[in-house]
Amino acid sequence: MKKETHVLERPPEDAAADWTIPQDWSAYTAEEHATWDKLFARQAKLLPGRASAAYLKGLEALRLSESGIPNFEELSERLMQLTGWQVVAVPGLVPDDVFFDHMANRRFVAGNFIRRPDQLDYIQEPDVFHDVFGHVPMLADPVFADYLEAYGRGGMRALELGALKQLGRLYWYTVEFGLIEEAEGLRIYGSGIVSSSAESVFALDSDSPNRIRFDMQRVMRTDYRIDDFQQNYFVIPSFEALLRETVETDFAPLYAEILAQPDIPIAAILPGDGVITRGTQAYAEGKG
Ligand SMILES: [Fe+2]
Repeated sequence: MKKETHVLERPPEDAAADWTIPQDWSAYTAEEHATWDKLFARQAKLLPGRASAAYLKGLEALRLSESGIPNFEELSERLMQLTGWQVVAVPGLVPDDVFFDHMANRRFVAGNFIRRPDQLDYIQEPDVFHDVFGHVPMLADPVFADYLEAYGRGGMRALELGALKQLGRLYWYTVEFGLIEEAEGLRIYGSGIVSSSAESVFALDSDSPNRIRFDMQRVMRTDYRIDDFQQNYFVIPSFEALLRETVETDFAPLYAEILAQPDIPIAAILPGDGVITRGTQAYAEGKG
């Protein structure tokens, strides 16, 4: 995930100028590898029939498995052959321009730490399971790989245009929490969902959240929650359509239009929405 909190101003002493650090794979303990294996086994059982074909194909192509935390160098070699992307370690959250620059140059920044055994179901900061199991299989898909690079370039532009929050929502509702409509039905591809056992089920099966057809402008105006299951999921028709729209959109006038309009509250449904599921919001309200 990508949040705006706790960002350092300059790279810590052990990091390079581009904020990368060695993964230090040999330093992982047996317990840490076992945490990966446990999480992997749980998700691998859940995801067939739930995750998008592209995600499952990537998982297989990269040979991610139940044999410990992947070594980023080996993983990057495989990924490089497939789509020209690499995985690099960074010390937690990095400044926006650093994040976008890596992405625009096909380097995916990942945390190298793994959650503690008592945090299997929930962590606040993205760990190596979220970043690698959640994100990296999608980077093995050529179309999604191009989308993320385009997003990185778009990030630079959004920084200049003062629209970081709006662009961040696009990331949130696609890369982190996106759904796609496939021939067999809705499937998950967002990393925040595929790396969470509870949300892998909730996002597709629960009556509570809204499921709405993706609309770039609508998404960029919509608030989201970072502390619990999403109250909205946006459904893309295909990765090709998402890439095409991202590459073809002229963002300066789009941002000007969006910034002149109010934000859309989290669970609201608007008259023009392509509603697939009108959620009861019972889960979110039950928590309130
Ligand atoms: Fe993420």
